Amino acid sequence: MSTAVYPGSFDPMTNGHLDVIRRTAAIFDRVVIGILINQNKQPMFSLEERVEMIREATKDIPNIEVYTFSGLVVEFAKKMNASVLIRGLRSMVDFEYELQMAQINRKIDDEIDTLFFATNPEISYVSSSAVKELWHYRQDITDYVPECVIGKLEEKENDYER
Ligand code: PNS
Repeated sequence: MSTAVYPGSFDPMTNGHLDVIRRTAAIFDRVVIGILINQNKQPMFSLEERVEMIREATKDIPNIEVYTFSGLVVEFAKKMNASVLIRGLRSMVDFEYELQMAQINRKIDDEIDTLFFATNPEISYVSSSAVKELWHYRQDITDYVPECVIGKLEEKENDYER
């Protein structure tokens, strides 16, 4: 069984992430989405919320599993019986960072390789941070994120106002 791990922060997941997930799921038998537990970052969404949003947005794709992980991504991949890491490439800026990360990961463990997907050009300028900023300034983000993410953002806003 071929397994690919798609790691990231997913704070929150965007339609760019979803596009990469769909394309990976069409190629691999099993796609494991790994959300990094990062003590150094203050996320907008808790790990539970991020897991929930990804599960909801991918509920029509049967071969998806969602987990959180800490430590090295190659160790997580090994634990999941995966030999491939997936990343999306939006631009040359991404490329420099991603190339370095892929090379470091391969140096740590040469049994784990990284595969890149060129992201959908229609939304290649979208990032999780841009989505959060646009939402903050009350801009329309319906083209950029799955519906459940907008639902979660609205819930947060209501909790805050209460
Ligand atoms: O969505 P992001 O924040 O761009 O994802 C980055 C991620 C989670 C893929 C990366 O930070 C990661 O793999 N972190 C785990 C630590 C690790 O394995 N580091 C070695 C590669 S430099």
